Amino acid sequence: MKIAVLAGDGIGPEVTAQAVKALRAISANNGPQFEMAEAPIGDAAFNQHGDPLPPSTAEMAAKADAILFGAAGTYESDLRPAEQRGGHGLLRLRKQLDLYANFRPVFAFPELLGASSLKREAIEGVDLVVLRELTSDIYFGTPRGRGVENGQRHAWNTMRYTEAEVARVMRAGFEAARKRRRQLCSVDKANVLETSQLWREVAIEVARDYPDVELRHEYVDAVSMHLIRRPRDFDVIVTGNIFGDILSDAAAMLTGSIGMLPSASLNGEGVGLFEPVHGSAPDIAGKDLANPLASILSAALLLRHSLKLEAEAALMEKAVRQVLAEGYRTGDIMEEGATRLGTEAMGDAVAQA
Ligand code: NAI
Ligand code: MG
Repeated sequence: MKIAVLAGDGIGPEVTAQAVKALRAISANNGPQFEMAEAPIGDAAFNQHGDPLPPSTAEMAAKADAILFGAAGTYESDLRPAEQRGGHGLLRLRKQLDLYANFRPVFAFPELLGASSLKREAIEGVDLVVLRELTSDIYFGTPRGRGVENGQRHAWNTMRYTEAEVARVMRAGFEAARKRRRQLCSVDKANVLETSQLWREVAIEVARDYPDVELRHEYVDAVSMHLIRRPRDFDVIVTGNIFGDILSDAAAMLTGSIGMLPSASLNGEGVGLFEPVHGSAPDIAGKDLANPLASILSAALLLRHSLKLEAEAALMEKAVRQVLAEGYRTGDIMEEGATRLGTEAMGDAVAQA
């Protein structure tokens, strides 16, 4: 089983190393063996090879059974033209592998309820999935660009969806809902946007094939409120690329920290990409401060979804919960009376467990 390890920038390499450690711990216990190979992506790749997604990296990723990804981009490169931007390497990889379905499970760890800044009563029992469309929308639509008109700078992007793009992610959402509590909330802004009207129409059409799943529609601004006030009301949320980007970061706070949230990007077949929801966190990079649990939990999703190793995936998740139950915390989820660990030590604790 071949795993491409693309660690990227900032805390990417730090947290990914801990996930690799956890995978090795599984192998070391008479578990399956993984062939793991690293390749550069992001700013690191641009600085070395002049390309944030070198062809050799793209090829290796496409040939692997699964991709374990860290983070790409930094604040410095974010404002450069696309082809020099670390983060653009990841966008291109997602597009090339057609990874349109980005699952972001959000659940409140009972072990962590004290660490969230939100009220315990509000988040206890939260268990939802944000399914974000990942290969279209305003992030990819053309025309896009910048220019000068009448002496003024201006800039434009295009929000665009095709029927097929909406239908396939909607289907993935209904399938996921079927395996859960059978409630699907489709999120759009149909009162303002044509793309959202199409989104809603297609949601209703696809829903006909899933009479056992309850479909409801909500506006994105309303959902951003409801997610905080009554997060237990959500099972599967399906939404477009930009709305999903923003909502899933907000939902991350329900778990206590963005450093706890894994994600899986799938295309229904072939290779999947697994990464923490967070970015390269330049503010804490290189300081052994990053929480590696989102990356480790992403490796668990990789085992489950791409390698079909359910028992090993569950084992890895259990190890994370055990370490939390024992009172070990990184800084972002620190509570009174807990034992504070750095990135490496947290990785060691999980591998040990
Ligand atoms: P970010 O997720 O990197 O950081 C946001 C905040 O959360 C920061 O205060 C950071 O210290 C904290 N944080 C993030 N991960 C953490 C962890 N594991 N443990 C503890 N604290 C953690 O998002 P931001 O600041 O918007 O972006 C930073 C850079 O990362 C940018 O250059 C951005 O383009 C890139 N980025 C890359 C992503 C990817 O590769 N998928 C996703 C999001 C951002
Ligand atoms: Mg984001």
